[in-house]
Amino acid sequence: MHRLRLRRGSGLRIATLALLAGIAAGCGGAQVGGAGGAGRVAVMLPPGERPFWMPLARDFERAHPGVTVDLIEGPQSTDLRENLYTASLLARDPSFDLVYMDVTWTSKFAAAGWLRPLEGAFPPQERDRWLPAAREAGMFRGRLYRVPVRTDVGLLYYRRDWLEGAGYAPPSTFDELVRVARALEDPPRRWGFVWQGKQYEGLVCDYLEVLTGFGGTWVDPATLEVGLDRPQAAAALEFLVRCRSVDPISPPGVATYQEEESRRLFQDGRAVFLRNWPYVWRLAQREDSPIRGKIGAMSMVHAPGGRSAGTLGGWGLGVSAYSRRPDLAIAFIRHVTTLESQRVLCGETGYAPALIEAYRDSALLAANPFLDRIGRLHANAVARPAIARYALASDILQRHLSAALAGGEPAARALREAARETRLMLGRAGAAEAR
Ligand code: GLC
Repeated sequence: MHRLRLRRGSGLRIATLALLAGIAAGCGGAQVGGAGGAGRVAVMLPPGERPFWMPLARDFERAHPGVTVDLIEGPQSTDLRENLYTASLLARDPSFDLVYMDVTWTSKFAAAGWLRPLEGAFPPQERDRWLPAAREAGMFRGRLYRVPVRTDVGLLYYRRDWLEGAGYAPPSTFDELVRVARALEDPPRRWGFVWQGKQYEGLVCDYLEVLTGFGGTWVDPATLEVGLDRPQAAAALEFLVRCRSVDPISPPGVATYQEEESRRLFQDGRAVFLRNWPYVWRLAQREDSPIRGKIGAMSMVHAPGGRSAGTLGGWGLGVSAYSRRPDLAIAFIRHVTTLESQRVLCGETGYAPALIEAYRDSALLAANPFLDRIGRLHANAVARPAIARYALASDILQRHLSAALAGGEPAARALREAARETRLMLGRAGAAEAR
């Protein structure tokens, strides 16, 4: 029996996933090391975030002599990190004390019994300090399992200078977006609209806000009703297909883009519109950025009579049920969610904080004046369904969206199939899935 050892800062690769899966399948619970006396608290983070967590970890270590915080660098993809955590928790492996969770993971991880309830450690008066949507994303069946660290909402960025120069107002409908993008693009040097078209969670986020703009729905978490075979859902996918191949305003490569690929094109001055998250604003305003002072941001456009929406995203911390030091894990959560820590984590990165008071904080507003807008754009947030089988529902949708984008399946047929598979999957899970 061997303890799973993950080096601090090691770039986790798929091989590690295989290793974790192997442990899950064969070896049973791994032994724990590092418990006793001093102590260790470990969490896996996206690689890009680790440098910003380092000062928080070092501060915590200084305040807790003998304690080590392991910030383990995971893969870039949200889905892969979820797979790694899942494999580890299935194996009851205590290597991760903390689970750095997307908004969509709470139900699955809590329903599986992999997380400790935290409402005792974070009483209501503390929870009231968090943005309501971020707080809600940490609840499952009335209990708290995830403390929000930062929040996200989908945004549509645009080149204000180009639109103004050509006499266009920011678009409000999908047709207007296509019209303005076509008028201002000059492919392949300059594209009209870039977004996240790769088959992964980001594609679902992009689709959900377009779907909402057309008045459609995905899965109702209360009734498990599936809306993917309704005309609004097909219209939303047809819009994305149109962007890529019918009235091409998006590069063919958009079907392989995650957040950073699309941001780089926009930031290099090679796209008129970009769909992405709040962190882009801060990077776009850096001194060396060619688009500094030239962009605007708003919520996604909508169909006539529809509403603008931005998918709710964000990250928070849960405590593994298999942690040998839940006391330290909770203390670390407390430490990284103070206002001072929000300044450290969100100031330089441009991440949107989870603490309400952070949106009025002069230090944070000075570092990122866009915070004020983000706070207001949160009003348009639309949540992905909070169901325990979310990962499966997302996987089904990703596959069919991707097939339609690649031109392999007409949009309506792809979504009919996605609806059928989703119903089948949820039907098996039964009504107990509903929160
Ligand atoms: C961002 C969001 C997260 C979402 C992911 C998709 O990290 O915060 O909620 O799932 O992007 O790529």
